[in-house]
Amino acid sequence: TWTMASFIEEAVARISQTVGPEEKVICALSGGVDSSVTALLVHRAVGERLVCIFVNNGLLRKGEAETVLDFFRHSHLNVRYVDASDLFLSRLAGVTDPEEKRRIIGHTFIEVFEAEAQKIGEVKYLAQGTLYPDIIESVSFRGPSATIKSHHNVGGLPERMKLKLIEPLKELFKDEVRELGQELGMPYELIWRQPFPGPGLAIRIIGEVTRDRLAILREADAIVTEEMKASGWYYKVWQSFAVLLPIRTVGVMGDERTYEHVVALRVVDSLDAMTADWTRLPYDLLARLSGRIINEVQGVNRVVFDISSKPPATIEWE
Ligand code: XMP
Repeated sequence: TWTMASFIEEAVARISQTVGPEEKVICALSGGVDSSVTALLVHRAVGERLVCIFVNNGLLRKGEAETVLDFFRHSHLNVRYVDASDLFLSRLAGVTDPEEKRRIIGHTFIEVFEAEAQKIGEVKYLAQGTLYPDIIESVSFRGPSATIKSHHNVGGLPERMKLKLIEPLKELFKDEVRELGQELGMPYELIWRQPFPGPGLAIRIIGEVTRDRLAILREADAIVTEEMKASGWYYKVWQSFAVLLPIRTVGVMGDERTYEHVVALRVVDSLDAMTADWTRLPYDLLARLSGRIINEVQGVNRVVFDISSKPPATIEWE
């Protein structure tokens, strides 16, 4: 639209004026819409002098790193990919407490990001996808602000590395950022992706996060996303995902008794994540989801559907 086109023009002009001709900008790409739009805007203004860092924490969904990297490299952005999966997973070994998982993942992210940023040489600016609601709302724990912030929050990094902030979206709301994304040529799937928590699949594996359990959840989650998209429900709901439970239950296959994992399906409608209601999915879709997960994901013999609303339940299980 005309307004968005002029917003882009003005934002790009402002960034070009701020960043000197020899100066560099870094940003943390999460794959979410805010950091993506921020990177595309800053790239229009400073080109190669924007260096994006994408950290693979080993807790991403199936194919996620590839999808995000493909798009940004296709858009000619300078992206440094850091696969820190081993480090994250080794630090999470034996950890079951949800808040402990979040702390470890948050600290490790800052450490990895900072180490990578040091390699770039002299950098003067950090671009962040801060939105207007992030600034005006008080930071409610696990509210929408916390959601957005934890993707971008690189701790005390700006102070430690003496970086100045560039926040081109700080006067915008989410819907305006999506419109901007469309104007900047982002694909529909990236613009309308469901929210995904910074700690990733770690908080959807109840109990210890191991490579084996991650592999199970990743397969189940991919089936959920695929079926939700195929049936047209993916873009109608707030979030839809699988959770791996820390129990095994008895099943039967042929003449054999099995004793395997349980996957819970969580699908919710919401406007802002502060309240949510479980989505009344059609029974035939639920049947396809459970049938495919049990048949195709090795080690799972039972699927349950979460019918709790928020409050008092939360959207995530941890
Ligand atoms: P809850 O589970 O509190 O989730 O109802 C509300 C929204 O926040 C997301 N969420 C998180 N996002 N880091 C994030 O970036 C987190 O630690 C985190 N915990 C929950 C959740 O997916 C939902 O959209």
